[in-house]
Amino acid sequence: MHTYGTAAVNNRGHLEIGGVDVVEAAAKFGTPLYLYDVALIRERARGFKQTFDKLGITAQVAYASKAFASVAMMQLAEQEGLSLDVVSGGELYTAQKAGFPAERIHFHGNNKSREELEMAFDAKIGCIVADNFHELEMIGEISEERRQAMSILLRITPGIEAHTHDYILTGQEDSKFGFDLNNGQAEEALTLALKKPFVRVLGLHCHIGSQIFETTGFVLAAEKIIGKLADWHNRLSFEAEVLNLGGGFGIRYTAEDDPIAPAAYVEEIIRKVQAETKKQGLQMPEIWIEPGRSLVGDAGITVYETGSVKDVPNVRKYLAVDGGMSDNIRPALYEAKYEAVLANRVNDPVEETVSIAGKCCESGDMLIWDLPLPKAKTGDLLAMFCTGAYGYSMANNYNRIPRPPVVFVENGDMKLVIRRETFDDLVKLDLPLGLPQTN
Ligand code: LLP
Repeated sequence: MHTYGTAAVNNRGHLEIGGVDVVEAAAKFGTPLYLYDVALIRERARGFKQTFDKLGITAQVAYASKAFASVAMMQLAEQEGLSLDVVSGGELYTAQKAGFPAERIHFHGNNKSREELEMAFDAKIGCIVADNFHELEMIGEISEERRQAMSILLRITPGIEAHTHDYILTGQEDSKFGFDLNNGQAEEALTLALKKPFVRVLGLHCHIGSQIFETTGFVLAAEKIIGKLADWHNRLSFEAEVLNLGGGFGIRYTAEDDPIAPAAYVEEIIRKVQAETKKQGLQMPEIWIEPGRSLVGDAGITVYETGSVKDVPNVRKYLAVDGGMSDNIRPALYEAKYEAVLANRVNDPVEETVSIAGKCCESGDMLIWDLPLPKAKTGDLLAMFCTGAYGYSMANNYNRIPRPPVVFVENGDMKLVIRRETFDDLVKLDLPLGLPQTN
C-alpha cells in the first residue's frame, strides 16, 4: 500500500487515517463515507506558504474551493491562512457561512451573473477575476452605481498547453475562459478596465490546466505574460501588482503518476518570474497561486462496503460497492485511475484481480478496473485513496442515491462536517402533482 499522510495499518490489520481506525469510522458513520486527513491538508497548505516565505516573496495561496467546498473545509483553509478561490454564488455563500475573511476571497468564473457580481460587491471581497467583456462591463456598471471600488485581475489565456487530460485543459487559445493574450483581446480588456473609475486592475491571472506534472507550462506562461507586461508597461504605463498563476499542480493517484513536490513547482515559478521581471526592468509582482487538488486530493479517502460479486469465468470478476459515479464521477468522466485496499484486512495477501463496480444503473459506472486484492467477501470495506479533490464536490444524486457524509479525522478525533443525505433530503425540493403550487 502506498501511504498517504497519516494513513497506516494498525495492529488489527485495519487501515488507519488521522489516528482513526477506518473500520470504526465506517461502523459509526456508515458507508459510503469520505474521510479527510486534516493533518495532511495542513501540511500541504504550510508547504506552499513556507516555500514563498523561504524565498521572501509576498504571496497569496488561495485554496481553489471547487476541489472540495464545504463550510468546515473553508474554515480549515482560514485557519491555515490561505485565501479562497470561489467560482459561483454558491461557493461564495458557503465562504460567508464559514466566516471566511472577505478580503481574501477571489471570485472566478466565465459566466458570473449580475446577481453573483452584486453579491461579491455586497460582501466586499478581495478581488474579482474578470473573465470576459460582458462581465467587465457589468463590474464597471455596478461599481459606478454603488460608487464602490473593486479590485480585479484580468484572466488571460496565454496560449500554453499543459500536458494533461483534454477535458481539463484551460490555458490554450481555444478556451471558453479568459481574454486571449495573443489576439489583442487581453490588451483591449486592460485598456477598457483602466478607464473605469472604480475599478482597480491589480494584475493578471492565468490557469493553464489541472493535474499537471511538469513545470514547463507554468514557466512558459510566466515568460510570455511578463513579456506582455513589459510591453504594456512601456506603451500603457501599466504595471501589475499581482500575477496569479492559478492551480493545477498534479498529485499521485496511482503508481503511474510521478508528480514533483508542490514546493518544487512554486520555486521554479518564482525563480522564473524573478528572472523575467528583472530582465524586463519590472517590479516583482505579488505571486498568487490557486491549488485545489494538491491541497486536498490525497488527504481524502472513500470507504465503501462491498456487496454483490459477479464472476464471468475467464473474463472478469466484478466486485460491486455501495457507491459509485454518484460519489466519484471522475473514473466515468475522465477515465481517472485510483488505488484501493480492503480497509478491514490490509495485510491479507493479494489473491485475485477484481474490477470495482459502482451501483449506478450505467455500465460506465466502474470505479477501478483490474485491482489486485485479497479475496473479497460481501461486507468487506474497500478504501479508495486520493478521492479528496473533485469527489464530493462533483457528487450527484443520479439514481437518487444520497450523497455520503464527510468526516474530518485528526489526532484520533472524528468530526462529522457534512452529514449523510437522507431520502427526505432527496425529495425536499419535489412538489407533488395535484397540490396547489407556489413558486
Ligand atoms: N484555478 C482555476 C482558475 C481553476 O480553473 C482551477 C481548476 C483551479 C485553480 C484548481 O486546479 P487544481 O489545483 O485543483 O488542479 N474536475 C476536474 C478538475 C477541474 C479543474 C477545474 N479548474 C477533475 O476532477 O480532475
